[in-house]
Amino acid sequence: MTGVKIDGLEVAKSIRLQVKDIVNDLKAKGITPCLATVLVGDNQASATYVRNKHKACEDVGILTKDHTPTAEITQAGLNKLIEELNQDETVHGILVQLPLPSHLNEFITTTQILPEKDVDGLTPPNVGLLSIGKAVLVACTPSGIIEMCKYYNIELEGKNVVIINRSNLVGKPLYHLLLQNNATVTTCHSKTKDLKKICLNSDIVITGVGNRAIFKLTPDMIKEGAVVIDVATTRHDGKLSGDADYSEIIEKTSFASPVPGGVGPMTVAMLLKNTVTAAAISKGIDIKS
Ligand code: GUN
Repeated sequence: MTGVKIDGLEVAKSIRLQVKDIVNDLKAKGITPCLATVLVGDNQASATYVRNKHKACEDVGILTKDHTPTAEITQAGLNKLIEELNQDETVHGILVQLPLPSHLNEFITTTQILPEKDVDGLTPPNVGLLSIGKAVLVACTPSGIIEMCKYYNIELEGKNVVIINRSNLVGKPLYHLLLQNNATVTTCHSKTKDLKKICLNSDIVITGVGNRAIFKLTPDMIKEGAVVIDVATTRHDGKLSGDADYSEIIEKTSFASPVPGGVGPMTVAMLLKNTVTAAAISKGIDIKS
C-alpha cells in the first residue's frame, strides 16, 4: 500500500487563510494582533525558526516585535524583559524561542509569561487547563498535528496511537489532545521497552526523536496501512530529515507526513492562530475556532 502524503504546507495554508480573515475582523475593531519573540544568543537553527515565524506573521497582517538579547543576559534580565512584554498592551502573544543557553532556566523563564499571552501553551495554568480539556492556548506542534488529522479525515477515535516523544512542547500536550479525541495513547521514550512491538500494534505512529544515530523509524516497525506523522527535524549537511525516510515509509502507510513540508509549517500556522486568539481574548472578543 502506498499512502497519501500529509501535506503540511497545504493544511497550513488553509489555517493561514482563516487567520488572515480573523486579523482583518480584529483590525476593523481597532485591534492589530502583535507577537513578541525573544531569541537569546546566536543559535542559528533557532534564528531561522524565528525568522520564519516573523515572515508568517507579516504575511497575515500580524505585527511582530523582535527581541534578541545576547547569550550573556542573566535570568533576572530575561525575567525583566518578559515582564515588560507582559505589561505592554500592544503585545498579545509572547514566544521565548527554546532551547535557551544552559545558564538560563526554561521553566523559570516560560513561567514568567502571562498565561493569556502564552502562545506556546507552556505556562502551568495553560498546561493544567489542557489536562482537563479546557485550554484555549495549546502548544502549536500538537494542535497542528490534530488539525492535519482533521484535514485528511484521519479518524482518531478508538485508534491506538503511539507518541515517541515526551517533551513539554510536543509529547505531553499531544497526549492530552489525542485522549480528548478518544484515542488510546501510549507515550514512549528512551527507557521504553519493546518499542517496535508497541509501534507494530499502533494505528498511528507519531515520532519525534530527532537523532538518527539513536533512532530511525523503519517500515518493519509499523503495521501495513498505519499512519505515520514525523515531528523530528534533524539537520545533516544543511538538509532536514525526520525520524523516518519518507520515500521508504510511505510505501507501507495509509498516510505519512514528509520532512520538510509536514509538521513544521503547521507549528508556525498554529502560532499565528494562537496569536490572534490571544489578541481577541485581550479585548473580550469571542472568535470561532
Ligand atoms: N523550539 C522548537 N520548537 C519550539 C516551539 O514550538 N516554541 C518555542 N518557544 N521554542 C521552540
